[in-house]
Amino acid sequence: MSAVPLLKVRDVSKFYGSRIGCRNVSFELYPGEVLAVVGESGSGKTTLLSCLSTRLMPSSGMIEYHMRDGQYRDLAHMGEAARRFLMRTDWGFVHQNPADGLRMTVSAGANVGERLMAVGDRHYGNIRASASDWLRRVEIGEDRIDDQPRAFSGGMRQRLQIARNLVTSPRLVFMDEPTGGLDVSVQARLLDLVRGLVHDLGLAAIIVTHDLAVARLLSHRMMVMKDGAVIEQGLTDRVLDDPREPYTQLLVSSILQV
Ligand SMILES: Nc1ncnc2c1ncn2[C@@H]1O[C@H](COP(=O)(O)OP(=O)(O)OP(=O)(O)O)[C@@H](O)[C@H]1O
Ligand SMILES: [Mg+2]
Repeated sequence: MSAVPLLKVRDVSKFYGSRIGCRNVSFELYPGEVLAVVGESGSGKTTLLSCLSTRLMPSSGMIEYHMRDGQYRDLAHMGEAARRFLMRTDWGFVHQNPADGLRMTVSAGANVGERLMAVGDRHYGNIRASASDWLRRVEIGEDRIDDQPRAFSGGMRQRLQIARNLVTSPRLVFMDEPTGGLDVSVQARLLDLVRGLVHDLGLAAIIVTHDLAVARLLSHRMMVMKDGAVIEQGLTDRVLDDPREPYTQLLVSSILQV
């Protein structure tokens, strides 16, 4: 891993009126590192992910991103055009509900190809070849390239959403409960796929999940949130095998009973 953080997050808070979304969150994320954010419903995971990915403006705090040109940029003070460019190229965002991250009424091939066009690829043959290659990588038959995602199963849609996000070789991918709506056997295959791709591509990722097994499988490091704050963070194996906070101990022991 490189010595320079990709993302520097300091004291990020987000309030919805008087309600706390998240508060005083600080961490650094390095290239190639996978960070899991866990915690019960309402603990602030999605709020934090939305702030980090510039979908929401934090109430206070600073988020700096290491651009490809080697400079750090403060995301809060980045222009709209630069922000949109980052979202389409350097970053991926995998939504819990694939319909939120796909265009349901254009073909699977176009869903993948669209991202390539956004980064300037104009050669139809190349775009179609890359789309077809990515469908194969996410285990969608190449004969489905002209089908619309609404004709796909939930698991296929999620794999298509992943292909659409990874085709531009992003450096950082945000995922909000990527296996949330899927049944257990489909979840396991998808997790294997995500793990392989993240590893092969050297991606950095921030994965929100309430499932500690997902955190164990995918992440190097994890943060545990409660009432909007990070109450414990560290290497995933350390946090899960030797949790220090009583709340984390409770979370860990409650999955052991399942
Ligand atoms: N748009 C909003 N307006 C007002 N309050 C909000 C809004 N979005 C989230 N909140 C509040 O912020 C807190 C954190 O919510 P958030 O959605 O980040 O939790 P979460 O950890 O993602 O939960 P879940 O696991 O259920 O998705 C909650 O108290 C929630 O009610
Ligand atoms: Mg959420």
